[in-house]
Formats: sequence, C-alpha cells, structure tokens
Amino acid sequence: MMTADLHPAAVPVAITINGRAYELRVDPWVTLLDLLREQLGLTGSKKGCDHGQCGACTVLIDDKRINSCLVLAVTKHGSAVTTIEGVGAPGDLHPLQQAFVEHDAFQCGYCTPGQICSALGLIAEGQAKTRDEVRELMSGNLCRCGAYTNITDAIVDVMERAAAACGREDAA
Ligand code: FES
Ligand code: FES
Repeated sequence: MMTADLHPAAVPVAITINGRAYELRVDPWVTLLDLLREQLGLTGSKKGCDHGQCGACTVLIDDKRINSCLVLAVTKHGSAVTTIEGVGAPGDLHPLQQAFVEHDAFQCGYCTPGQICSALGLIAEGQAKTRDEVRELMSGNLCRCGAYTNITDAIVDVMERAAAACGREDAA
C-alpha cells in the first residue's frame, strides 16, 4: 500500500515557547502566529489584520517585540518566543497585567495580549522616558475600543514604579 506524506514540504523547527522546548515539523509558509494559534493552541496572541498593521499578534522573540503575523515560523528555528500565556497567570499576574486591571485599560480585551507583550518590549528597550514617547512607541498597537489613555496610564505607572524601586535601591 502506498502512503502519502500530506506535508512533504514541512521542515523541522526547534523553538522554545514560554520556556518549553518544541521540536516541530512546519510548512515553510506558516506564520509564527498561525503556528501558535492553529498548531499549538496558544490563542492568546490575536489575529487582527494579518498584515502587520494592528499589533494584535505581538509576541516577544528573544525578548524583542515583533508582529508574529509577519514572521515565517521556520525562520525562528532556535529562537525563544514569549506569548501572553508565558507572561503571567490568573492569581499571579505580571505587574503590567495588574496595572491594566487597575487602570481599566481594556474593554473587549482583543488587543490586550498584544498591548502587554508590546509594552514589555518597550520597557526592555528603555527608549521611552516620557508619556509622549510611550504613546509614540506603542503606536503600532491599535485598540478598536479606544482605551489608549488608560493603556498609556498603565504602562507609565509600571515604568514609574520600576524607576522608584531603582531609586530606592540606589539610595540604600
Ligand atoms: S495581526 Fe499582526 S499586526 Fe495585525
Ligand atoms: S480593548 Fe478592545 S480592541 Fe483594545
């Protein structure tokens, strides 16, 4: 009996996602976003535009924020990916997630995973020092609900708290 390989073009990809190592076979045309959502069931990263224009799919790759809809999964062989599922957990929220709750920074929540991953990348980049810079450097993340003011409040709050904690450590 003949057996057919339904995915003859699939190539092996070793990738770490949220600290867990995966050895996968992936078709070369599959985006990282589709790999996460369709193949691995990690549906926290959202598909908005699928064209790199809304930021709903933002994840961290090797600690840098990126639109996962624009990245072919096979090109990230050997990389470490963090999705919103790896950021915090119910009852153990990341400070940014907690700040989003405290500042009422989400309404429908669709853009929120991308906003939080993007904000994590923004803070790690260390380029945004002012509220206006936060707004500018978060401008790739759209929110159809228009929660921008509260999203900015949440991010600035976390940045200020981190800066204050640094100041206290320096003074100690
Ligand atoms: S879904 Fe990727 S930027 Fe919109
Ligand atoms: S909270 Fe609804 S799209 Fe941003």
